[in-house]
Amino acid sequence: MFKELKNKRVLVVGSYRGIGKSIVDNYLNEGSIVYAADIRFDAKKYPKLTKINDHYYRIHVDVRNEKEIIDLAKYMDAHHIVPEIVIHVAGISTLDYMLESKTSDFYRNFDTNTCGFYFVAKYFGRLLVKHHIPGKIIVVDSQSGKNGYRFEASYCGSKHAILGILRVLALEIAKYHINVNAICPGIIETAMKHRERRDAARIRHTTPEAIKKEDISQVPLGRTGQPQDVANIALFLGSHLSDYMTGQAINITGGMTMH
Ligand SMILES: NC(=O)c1ccc[n+]([C@@H]2O[C@H](COP(=O)([O-])OP(=O)(O)OC[C@H]3O[C@@H](n4cnc5c(N)ncnc54)[C@H](O)[C@@H]3O)[C@@H](O)[C@H]2O)c1
Repeated sequence: MFKELKNKRVLVVGSYRGIGKSIVDNYLNEGSIVYAADIRFDAKKYPKLTKINDHYYRIHVDVRNEKEIIDLAKYMDAHHIVPEIVIHVAGISTLDYMLESKTSDFYRNFDTNTCGFYFVAKYFGRLLVKHHIPGKIIVVDSQSGKNGYRFEASYCGSKHAILGILRVLALEIAKYHINVNAICPGIIETAMKHRERRDAARIRHTTPEAIKKEDISQVPLGRTGQPQDVANIALFLGSHLSDYMTGQAINITGGMTMH
């Protein structure tokens, strides 16, 4: 679909499953060279970079660990494989009443979601600037980065913070022709969403099935999203079609969020 994406180097952080995996598949279909990083890729088997084929590599990385991101950026720089498109997808969520919530859960959300994005954008953004690459930095944020939802104080906080960082970075590196944009998905059917429904059902004394029905009823387009819906926007943001966009947060919510 996008000839220009053929052989482009794309780093997808948080790509073992769910939305990240769909983004990897989309770029592989375009003929890009995809570096798929995730904490779930075996650290022993994948100490640095495991070649699956000429276009697909896997990397073990924990985005909470700044040193691992620094090491990965150094490694890719030293091996002349600096990614031109950098996509941060890794995220976690916890659900609870704010007043009952654990402070440790608050930090967990910020460590993975916010600090993870900060590290990836900072160290790979530096490489784009160093090598004069007019690249793209993309983060999968959430409509929880724009709205408040019950039980999601830590998650919403961490996702709102990402958009603040993104807007500053977009301003600062626009002069290098590097675009920095976010995708804000709504309700997407992944393992994370299924676990959230189980947690919400426990808190609200109902069932995950009832919550799913409620979810669907809230979406103007009448269905919840699939990982592919989000991955399509990641392709657009990695292509020349988004060259005149930076600092934006695009909703892909079936109409749930319109600002
Ligand atoms: N599913 C939804 O409804 C939804 C809605 C809005 C936003 N999002 C966001 O989309 C992103 C992907 O979510 P998903 O639904 O695919 O979830 P998921 O749990 O299926 O996938 C998350 C991926 O991130 C990886 N990951 C988690 N912690 C990591 C770490 N410390 N280091 C490296 N990798 C790590 C996981 O191993 C997994 O592969 C998340 O940032 C999430 O907040 C999801």
